Amino acid sequence: MTGSGFAIRARALCKEHGEGQTLVRAVDEIDLDVPDGQTLAVTGPSGCGKSTLLHLLGGLERPTGGALWLAGRRVDGLGERALARLRRRTVGFVFQAFHLVEELSAVQNVELPALLAGDSPRAARRRAAELLDRVGLAARSRHLPSALSGGERQRVAIARALVNAPLVVLADEPTGNLDSAATREVLRLFEELRRGGQTLVIVTHDDRIAATADRLVSMRDGAFVDDVWLAAAAPTGLGGLLGLDG
Ligand SMILES: Nc1ncnc2c1ncn2[C@@H]1O[C@H](COP(=O)(O)OP(=O)(O)O)[C@@H](O)[C@H]1O
Ligand SMILES: [Mg+2]
Repeated sequence: MTGSGFAIRARALCKEHGEGQTLVRAVDEIDLDVPDGQTLAVTGPSGCGKSTLLHLLGGLERPTGGALWLAGRRVDGLGERALARLRRRTVGFVFQAFHLVEELSAVQNVELPALLAGDSPRAARRRAAELLDRVGLAARSRHLPSALSGGERQRVAIARALVNAPLVVLADEPTGNLDSAATREVLRLFEELRRGGQTLVIVTHDDRIAATADRLVSMRDGAFVDDVWLAAAAPTGLGGLLGLDG
């Protein structure tokens, strides 16, 4: 919980790229409140600004206008170091292309953000091992990413995103590179996270993620064109589709 009740708040959030004739307003005055524990799915055509929005929300990119709060704390004016520290402790990212460190084993990839955040090697290793177990990869913890399937790599990346117990997990088309069996495994993990009360923002083309979310936002040209709260998400969502219910 965050005290404010909102993991994320944005007002008139903007991101412009280029200038003059080549100016692109990738995110165009977006207002957004994400309550603690909500799973928000963001959909929209390629180029509409989904990744840019996610990067802004997670402090990977800086807005060119507007205001952003994470856990009730205003963050759009923070300096580089403060922003990096905030990112490490507050946000977990999952990318379409996994972005694992190829030279490190699965468990080393997962523990890395904890070590960077100052945890002891012993505590970081323990937490990484627990998370790999939770994503069903305890037996693969010493493998390099190159020895893992796409679905396994993404599950390692999800464990890594969770290692610092982030306020919010931001996922950018997390099943975009996966076959249908691996997609199922990854969706099952996100569903478990949702049920555990993890705040989640997932950019997706996958209708199955959209079906499990608490809320569905559609983007066009940098703005929200639709924002639907799905009251029935819990009983009839992905859990039902995957046979997790009952
Ligand atoms: N670094 C950048 N420089 C210039 N334009 C960019 C940059 N990043 C994104 N854009 C532009 O911003 C718009 C939104 O891109 P993006 O957020 O990647 O969309 P999506 O994730 O929905 O496909 C696109 O027109 C894209 O070309
Ligand atoms: Mg994108």
